[in-house]
Amino acid sequence: MSQPIDIAVLVSGSGTNLQALLDHQGSYRVATVVSDRPDAPALERARAAGAEAVVVTWTGDRDDFTHRVCDVLERAGVAWVVLAGFMRILGREAMERFPDRIVNIHPSLLPAFPGANAVAKALEYGVKQTGVTVHFVDEEVDHGPIIAQVPVEVLPDDDVGTLHARIQQQEHVLYPAVVDALVRGEIRVSGRKVEWRKQ
Ligand code: GAR
Repeated sequence: MSQPIDIAVLVSGSGTNLQALLDHQGSYRVATVVSDRPDAPALERARAAGAEAVVVTWTGDRDDFTHRVCDVLERAGVAWVVLAGFMRILGREAMERFPDRIVNIHPSLLPAFPGANAVAKALEYGVKQTGVTVHFVDEEVDHGPIIAQVPVEVLPDDDVGTLHARIQQQEHVLYPAVVDALVRGEIRVSGRKVEWRKQ
């Protein structure tokens, strides 16, 4: 592949997944990083790597917020939209303007423990295994077609911090690999079915 494919990464927090994506650029380039929070440390990671860093402030109106985010993404001309610790739900307009082009990473084996605090919920439930899911984004929270999952064992002495740290180790390997496969056209989605095929 000659020219890298431009992607956007949407963040809200520390941005360790963004960092992993930045560190593995090659087939793709992180052209722009969008945060709903002006104080997100992820923005600094973006700037340090030479990516555009844009804040789109949450005003309490999901449709308006989605519209403004989509305008930023369109202006940036990105082919893929990669949610990495982005804690806002995008409205229908995002799926219409970027159909099958938005992906998310979630720290559980979906459909178990969707939504916020997935690691704490898994510990409270007492599961012996949790993990990481990368999936296409649809209008429901943590619900779209699943692209890849990696299991992570829950150890007897785990707390949220230790378990999330081991989950994140897996996230940082899995997410760049999935984004690489997406931009190479190796992943196809049809309904809920996701197929990987080498070009
Ligand atoms: C990641 O573990 C990601 O899976 C999770 O937030 C963390 C962000 O970390 N996302 C969700 O819970 C989405 N429902 P990071 O900012 O260091 O990448």
